[in-house]
Amino acid sequence: GTPASKSDKTVTLSIDGFDITVPEGTSVMRASALAGIDIPKLCASDNLEAFGSCRLCVVEIEGRRGTPASCTTPVAEGMVVHTQSKKVAKIRKGVMELYISDHPLDCLTCAANGDCELQDQAGAVGLRDVRYTTGENHYDPTGTGALSMADAKRREGPGNHHYIPKDDSNPYFTYDPAKCIVCSRCVRACEEVQGTFALTIEGRGFESRVSAGAVDDSFLTSDCVSCGACVQACPTATLQEKSVIEMGTPTRSVITTCAYCGVGCSFKAE
Ligand code: FES
Repeated sequence: GTPASKSDKTVTLSIDGFDITVPEGTSVMRASALAGIDIPKLCASDNLEAFGSCRLCVVEIEGRRGTPASCTTPVAEGMVVHTQSKKVAKIRKGVMELYISDHPLDCLTCAANGDCELQDQAGAVGLRDVRYTTGENHYDPTGTGALSMADAKRREGPGNHHYIPKDDSNPYFTYDPAKCIVCSRCVRACEEVQGTFALTIEGRGFESRVSAGAVDDSFLTSDCVSCGACVQACPTATLQEKSVIEMGTPTRSVITTCAYCGVGCSFKAE
């Protein structure tokens, strides 16, 4: 879930009734995983600094107000954490419902089908129904399927992810904004894994989107060096290898890390 702490000091806390001792500086999410408890997540990953943007990993901590994100909350001595309460289950489901309301429902024909964290996590939080308008990819606050003027406008405007064209310019991968959940894992992988700053998040709220930052906003003309770190980090089919789109998901893949960079390339093995 989040990178390991290198501290020599340890901290003991209780998670869902289990006592666990972990290095100081460990996140509540990682401590839970070490205790065998998987907390739903979308924006966290083992090799990237925690960002706390998706809000799927919320937990309850006794004596603390609200529901903090477990990926950005460090453990503390004597902390008592509840990862499976009714309250957090309801929040996670609501958050996931909003993600799905702004996501194409083409899972069966999507290149990432069966290898999609959004799909997995929707199942993990128990989402079985979405109250908001889906398919057309816009949020219907009335829950009736009726479009307000603003929604109708948005449907045609640049704010809707569906209306940003696919970027096919890179020879190795495609970027499809319609499938982006703006978790920023690609942006962080570009910076933290590869040390390149080709990607950025533009805009706010519904309008926020990942941008390659170049004049024509394409990957080919940006500072992207085609290392693939962003593709490996993407939890959906937003950034997808062209070979996977054309030939399907490999049955077996090998992860390698060479001296040139720390991406950890994966390739199909026969
Ligand atoms: Fe913690 Fe996304 S995984 S906020």
